[in-house]
Amino acid sequence: MEIQQVGVVGLGAMGSGIVNVVSKAGIRVVAVKATGGDTGKAKKEFEAGLDKEVGRGKLAVYKANAAKAGVTWATSLDQLKDCDLIIESIVEELDKKNDLFGKLDKIVKPSGILATNTSTIGIDNMAKATKRADKFAGLHFFNPAPVMGLVEVISGPKTAKETADSLVSFCKNVNKTPVPLPSAPGFIVNRLLVPYLVDSIRLYEQGVSNPADIDAAMKLGCNHPMGPFELSDYIGLDIVKHMADILYSEMKEDRLKSPPSLVKLVAKGDLGRKTGKGYYDYSDGQKPNPDAKA
Ligand code: CAA
Repeated sequence: MEIQQVGVVGLGAMGSGIVNVVSKAGIRVVAVKATGGDTGKAKKEFEAGLDKEVGRGKLAVYKANAAKAGVTWATSLDQLKDCDLIIESIVEELDKKNDLFGKLDKIVKPSGILATNTSTIGIDNMAKATKRADKFAGLHFFNPAPVMGLVEVISGPKTAKETADSLVSFCKNVNKTPVPLPSAPGFIVNRLLVPYLVDSIRLYEQGVSNPADIDAAMKLGCNHPMGPFELSDYIGLDIVKHMADILYSEMKEDRLKSPPSLVKLVAKGDLGRKTGKGYYDYSDGQKPNPDAKA
């Protein structure tokens, strides 16, 4: 099935990024907040993002205008009924996701595919909330979605081959590289990335080095665009901890346990860039946060 209209539910950083990616590819989007609330702020930020890309000479004005015209900012899930694909991008809480998917299953036309942008929750846990497990899959975009080239296309045990094939074609149509795989803890990227991030934190806690030096080492020694502490602060420390906790609960490997400084920072509400402080303090550029160590 060719995907011609896409619903995006949840308009945080990931959902908004996905609206940007899909609308720029000339595919119609219906964007709605999980709460069905006002989308004014999301719309303003989406338009400002496109204008910035135009300003940097990365996007033609007529394409930005077409992308803007192609998005319907909805206030009710009912407006998703005719979409060929829905991408859920709400909080990583299974109960909330299942509640949403139960509703979407009743609203969206029977041929519509339901997809989750979860970073770590197993696909079958959510497919069970619907009567269309054959049309249910994971579509995992990376942050920032407009920039990152990968989408993991995750099939649960009951996902039909046609569903996965449609999603692979869709990813190519929105100028991303799909990597299909079966559902497994952390999929590919987070199964490898999360242990790396928590190992880096442990290296710091053990006094071997500090965040700035570890970041410099990984950027200059491995050509990574960000070091592990910059990346953790960028992703959000609450999200890093949540991913580590889910992986630990599924795999029971001690290495995946959230390190004490991560637990401490999350409890304090120092969640990284989004709160202005994490392993770094961003109040005046990017300086080490001396309170970060456990
Ligand atoms: N939206 C649109 N464009 C953006 C953007 C955004 N949010 N952020 C950056 N860009 C664009 C900029 O416009 C710029 O484009 P041009 O060079 O063409 O003008 C380009 O990206 C580079 O941006 P900047 O010059 O501002 O900054 P930078 O060079 O420092 O790059 C970065 C920023 C792209 C974030 C880069 O540091 C990077 O790739 N970091 C690693 C990100 C990463 O690993 N993400 C995965 C996170 S894990 C995840 O997502 C999984 C999960 O489940 C949690």
